[in-house]
Amino acid sequence: MILEKNEKFEISESMIPPKMTVTIEDARIVAETFGDLRMRYHAAIKEISTKLEVLDNEFSLRHDYNPIHHMECRLKSIKSIVDKIERKGWPMEIESVYKIMDFAGVRVICNYVDDVYTVEESLLRQDDIKLLKRKDYISNPKESGYRSLHLVVEIPIFLSDKTYNMPVEVQIRTIAMDTWASLEHELKYKRKEEMPENVAQELRKCAKAMAEVDTTMERIHKMF
Ligand code: GTP
Ligand code: MG
Repeated sequence: MILEKNEKFEISESMIPPKMTVTIEDARIVAETFGDLRMRYHAAIKEISTKLEVLDNEFSLRHDYNPIHHMECRLKSIKSIVDKIERKGWPMEIESVYKIMDFAGVRVICNYVDDVYTVEESLLRQDDIKLLKRKDYISNPKESGYRSLHLVVEIPIFLSDKTYNMPVEVQIRTIAMDTWASLEHELKYKRKEEMPENVAQELRKCAKAMAEVDTTMERIHKMF
C-alpha cells in the first residue's frame, strides 16, 4: 500500500486477512508508524530535490547550461520494505526498517558523465549533508554492466517537536546509463526464469557500447 502525501489511512476489519492473528490495534500501530516514517522520508526527499533544483537553476543562470536532465523521486512501498527485510534475513521489527538506507530514493539523470560528478560535488559540499555511503559504479561497473554513482546521504528535517536525520539514496547517472538500467531491469524482473548467459553477455556488450557513446558525446560537447 502506498500512502500519498496527507492521505489518511483507516483500517477496517475487512482489510485484514482471516489467517492473520494481528489485532486491529496492532495493525493500527503499524499503519501509524509507517505513516509517520513516510512523512519523514517524504520531507527528506523534498529537501534533497529542492537542493538539486537550486543547483541546476544556478548553473543554468551562470553557465547557460543545465547539468540535470531530470529527476525521479520515490518512497519504497510497505511491501518492498517487508520484502527487503525478509530478503536480508533481518528480524521483522521496526529497528530493521531503520537499517534500510533506500527507503527514500532520488534518481538524478544528467546529460554527461562530467555532470554526474559536478552534481555530486555540489551536493556534498553543503554543510547540512553528510555522506554515509558512496559506490562509484561508473569507474567500477557492476558485473551486469550497470553503471551509476550511488550515494547515501543524511539530511536533517525539522518537524514541530524534533529534528530527524534521514538517510536518502541518491543515484546519479547519465541518460545512456539510465536507458540501459531501465531496459535491463525490465528484462530481469518481468520474467520469472534466470537470465540466460548469452543474454547477459549481450547486455554487458550493450553497456560497454553505451559507455563509449557517453565518452564520445562528452568529447563532442566540449568541442563547442
Ligand atoms: P540493496 O540492499 O539491494 O539496496 O543493495 P546495495 O545497498 O548493495 O545496493 P547497490 O548500491 O548495489 O544498488 C541497489 C540499487 O541500484 C538497486 O535498487 C537498483 O536500483 C540499482 N542497481 C544495482 N545493480 C543493478 C543492476 O545490475 N541493474 C539495474 N538495472 N539496476 C541495478
Ligand atoms: Mg536498494
